[in-house]
Parts: sequence; C-alpha cells; structure tokens
Amino acid sequence: MERSGSKEEVRQAVGAARREGKRVALVPTMGALHEGHLSLVRAACERADYVIVSLFVNPMQFAPGEDFEAYPRDLDGDLTLLAAEGADFVFAPSAETMYAPDASVTVDPGPLGAVWEGASRPTHFRGVCTVVAKLFAITSPALGFFGEKDYQQLQVVRRMARDLDLPVRVVGCPIVRHADGLAMSSRNAYLSADQRAAAPVLYHALRTAETLALGGETDTRALAGAMAETIAAEPLARIDYAAVVHPETLEPLDALDGPARAIVAAHVGATRLIDNMALVGGDGGEAKAGDA
Ligand code: PAF
Repeated sequence: MERSGSKEEVRQAVGAARREGKRVALVPTMGALHEGHLSLVRAACERADYVIVSLFVNPMQFAPGEDFEAYPRDLDGDLTLLAAEGADFVFAPSAETMYAPDASVTVDPGPLGAVWEGASRPTHFRGVCTVVAKLFAITSPALGFFGEKDYQQLQVVRRMARDLDLPVRVVGCPIVRHADGLAMSSRNAYLSADQRAAAPVLYHALRTAETLALGGETDTRALAGAMAETIAAEPLARIDYAAVVHPETLEPLDALDGPARAIVAAHVGATRLIDNMALVGGDGGEAKAGDA
C-alpha cells in the first residue's frame, strides 16, 4: 500500500493505474476508521482495481465552535486497518496541501444542502462539496464510495456530481450498526457510558416508524410523530428533527406511497447524532421497509 500527502504523487499513481487499464475508486474519509468505513473500502475493492482512501479532517466543513479540534484522529491505526483491507493508496494531505492560504472558490451545495443537517449546520455542505470536488479532481476516480449513514451528504454529493457533470459514479453503501442498533460513527467516541446506552434511541425511533409502516400506516405525520415520541421518552436525548422524506429530493412526504427515507437527528449529551432508514410504502396500504 502506498501512502502520501502529496497531490502530485497521488495523481502519478492514479495515472499509472489508469494506463494499466485499472478502474480507480476513491473512498473519502476523515479517518478514525471504524467498520462503517471499512465496509466502504471492501465495497470499493470489489468494484474497482485500484482503491484510494483519503484521510483528511476537512476544516471547511466544521463551523467555528464545532468539534474540528476534538475530532478523533488515529493515522497509525487507520494505516494498519487499510493495509489489511488491501487498499492501494492512502492519500493523507495536510490542510495546507488541500487549501491555498487565499483559496476563495467554493462549491455551493444548493437547496439540498440547506435543509435538515444544513439547517443546523449552514456551512457544512459547502465544506463537504468543496473538499469532495477537490478530492475527485485530484484522484479522478471512476467510482466514489459514501456511506448511507450520512444520507443527506450522499444525496448532496450525488447531486453535485450530476449538476457539475463530474465523471464519477457516486456509490452509496448500507449503514453498519453496532449490535444494539446504534449506527457506527466516529462521533460515538464522544459518548459517556450512560449516553452510549441511550444513543440507540435513534435506531429505536426508526424501527418504530418501520413497524408502523409495515403495519400499513401511510400517514407520514403519524410516522414522524411516533419517531419524535420515541426520542422524547429518552431523558438523555434531545430531538433535532424526525421526518419522512423523499429519498432524493429530501422533501417531506405527505403519504408513504412509494420509496421514502425516515431521517432523525438528536443530541445525546453534547453529541449530535443522525440516523436514517429506508421505508417503502406499497400499493393498497402494504408497506415494506429496508435497512434493518
Ligand atoms: O463523511 C465524511 O467523512 C466527510 O464528510 C467526507 C465525505 C470525507 C468529506 O470530508
């Protein structure tokens, strides 16, 4: 496995791989890798011949006062995991390498970046789109792998690739969960033991909606209300939102009469957690759900 923080070196490695006819994939990460990230690397290794993993805690997607400094970092641990998975190249640039001191052009995520997570974190998706567009430009991947855990991010990045005609296929991969249902996230490391025990409430809320949907409930207000009640019953959790939305536009749906996504966000202590689940409403009130 090669490793470099240099844009030039990763470009050269990608150029050589492409000349050999290899299909190149990028798995963008902020490091502190867990099983969720490794599932992306495995998916990339299955579908591509040359897999680049980027490790970069992107300052631009953190607002002042957010957890940029506290965000977990473990370069040595990450490198060991990635070597074991068979990644071909680890691109771990410095902030100075990624951003010129007077960098001023950014990527506007559009309205899709202004809702839900964007309402709580108004500059977040501009930072994500800018760094992902730069990583795509540096590594020229045919495929880019993103987890469904950050569902809105996946949709925003897909829309960016479509609207900017970026020659990359954005691949979404299923959420990886702990045994108690909590979605894997680097931010879970912030939770105290009590908070960690409370955190699966987001998953329980989603399962409540799924169960209601499977039982034939198609009123999305009822589904969202049931999710909110589940979260409200957990004293350590404070809800931000619970909604049932269109899986691509992320607009709230009135009725569960086709593909939909249940999305939730809540603070557990000082840590803001997000989760989501596919819900599919069928004809005649029949509903089936996914992502359990
Ligand atoms: O999901 C993440 O870890 C980050 O938002 C990403 C896609 C690597 C961009 O910094």
